[in-house]
Amino acid sequence: MYLGVDYYPEHWDEKLIDNDLDRMKNMGCNIIRIGEFAWHLIERKEGKYDFSFFDKVIEKAKNKNIKIMFGTPTATFPAWLAKKAPSILSENEFGHKRVFGGRRQYCFNSDTYINYTKKIVERLVNHYKDEKDIIVWQIDNEFGHEGSDMCYCTNCHKKFQTFLKNKYENIDNLNKGYGTIFWGQTYNEFCEIPIPKPTITTHNPSLKLDWSRFRSYSINKFAEIQIDIVDNLKGDHQSITHNLPGGFFDKAYDQNILAEQLDFVSYDNYPVWGGLKEPIEPAEIAMNHDYVRGLKNKNYWIVEELMGAQGHNVIGYLPRPNQAKMWAYQAMAHGCENMLFFRWRGMNKGAEQFCYGIIDTDNKEKRKYKEVNEFMTDIKKYEDIIKSPIKSDIAILYDFDNTWSWKGQKQSIMFDFTTELMRLYKPFYNLNLNIDVIDIKKDFKKYKVLAIPVMQIIDEKLKMKIEQFVKGGGTVIFSFRSGIKDRNNNLYFGLENPCLIKELTGITIDDSESLQEDVEISSFDKRYKGKANVWRDIITNYSAEILYKYTDDFYSDKACITKNKFGKGNVYYIGAGVDEDILSEIFKEIIQKYDIDHIDSPRELEVYIRYYKDKKWLFINNHSDKKIEYKNVIIEPYESIIKKYEFIEWK
Ligand code: GLA
Ligand code: ZN
Repeated sequence: MYLGVDYYPEHWDEKLIDNDLDRMKNMGCNIIRIGEFAWHLIERKEGKYDFSFFDKVIEKAKNKNIKIMFGTPTATFPAWLAKKAPSILSENEFGHKRVFGGRRQYCFNSDTYINYTKKIVERLVNHYKDEKDIIVWQIDNEFGHEGSDMCYCTNCHKKFQTFLKNKYENIDNLNKGYGTIFWGQTYNEFCEIPIPKPTITTHNPSLKLDWSRFRSYSINKFAEIQIDIVDNLKGDHQSITHNLPGGFFDKAYDQNILAEQLDFVSYDNYPVWGGLKEPIEPAEIAMNHDYVRGLKNKNYWIVEELMGAQGHNVIGYLPRPNQAKMWAYQAMAHGCENMLFFRWRGMNKGAEQFCYGIIDTDNKEKRKYKEVNEFMTDIKKYEDIIKSPIKSDIAILYDFDNTWSWKGQKQSIMFDFTTELMRLYKPFYNLNLNIDVIDIKKDFKKYKVLAIPVMQIIDEKLKMKIEQFVKGGGTVIFSFRSGIKDRNNNLYFGLENPCLIKELTGITIDDSESLQEDVEISSFDKRYKGKANVWRDIITNYSAEILYKYTDDFYSDKACITKNKFGKGNVYYIGAGVDEDILSEIFKEIIQKYDIDHIDSPRELEVYIRYYKDKKWLFINNHSDKKIEYKNVIIEPYESIIKKYEFIEWK
């Protein structure tokens, strides 16, 4: 197991390095990540490469038996390059060129930038390919983060038109697929097609979806160029990874494509960042881990685990004593196998003065150092369990075409895709179930239950795959607006909603509306009442059973939640933004029907089950500031404990 820190020796007087490395070693480190922002230090002037500084640092680390992860430095190009070739700079939607000064402000489609990237990466990897203590190459840093997924420059415009030409072959196919007859937008040639910069009212939905697809393609293409170079040059003992930021569904970037090219995925876990008043909820932190694990259906690394308050110009919530340590345990529970904390010492100069690390600018080992030391000392004991695979009976399915469709037309001002995915994730999370979060293109035959949040785009291929799953005895849970669109992001014509999944769901949807305040719903037998918001589909069931109905005047006989038997399986349709308590009841019934292993616990206590050599282990994380008594165990505020199941007297 590798445990370490992100270290920036170039930030400090060289006299500090030996003492830094000694203290890291004493804390429990056996790896450091370096170099991901150090292009200028390596190439001060064009073509003049100097690795002497990092040679020294690596030598010092080797002498203390500390391994290295080295980052290719293409997220921060040197000022001399921006001056010499301003065309590498990306452009925002208003046509303003981004200026040198932040980071990741390069255009993924700039041939000039790609050429300079090739040169620096070739030199770097060539120099260190035989260095046995460099065991991992990190490609760039957080592709697509901080708004860098978007560039509206002429490079991108021209390559977007080529992208469309390759996809549609002739302009008539595009016109037909887009419905450009509408508003007289028919194109004669591909070179007439705009990129969706600001216009009066809105662009064509198919164009917007293709633009997101092109952005994702551009990032993955740029990554592939680097990965190919590293892969061809690196030592056999060296692996390749990339560190993903959070906010997966907010970006025009499908990371599944990138993940296929990596030896393992890495993730930067920041449950709280910038001016947030409090951390994101424990269930969403957990979902993020399950998403990262789902990219390769494989355990992963965390190369930036938050320890101190973080932010650029604004910081917010300070993780309470042991809270950041608890988040590290939670990550290990969900499939993280190796972890580096961000970062050894907060930098007193530059844009991240307020991105606090383990050591602050007083350079003393205090609470955070102690917490990391305690964590590193303890977690190693459970290495075998942590390296075991996680097997889930439940999967949440997503599709980036679908998230991008919603991003382009949110339909309800209350709509947020991650919120709707969490609406179906959280009731399972509350039952302490292992949950996978995977792309619809993955094989999902092995699961027992699939939750498919707000999947508007359902084509024949996807419908067949889901139908097969249900016929075989699986349970599928759809939520609102499912199935209304084709792969071109257009509404189906001539089919009753939910279109291709009408037979599967056993319903038709006569009307729909966006909601900005709660509507009441009640169980069919009127015993339970609840509420719904964001959106509602007004459902007529024809073969499905009604579980919940609306109660307001016009729609009191219309269904809101239905269940349809299909083949050997069941299909639930949650036709509105239904609240957690109701869904928890319904989902618990589903779990019991399949007898899926789960554990009850107080809401603030996450109990994650891991299996190793047919023994059951519990990773128990107290996400609250309250002491909790759980079975025969007292768990302190923000405490994490790992216990063998049979060691807990279950009374
Ligand atoms: C991201 C980046 C790091 C640093 C941290 C600050 O994760 O990868 O370089 O900027 O945020 O929190
Ligand atoms: Zn561009």
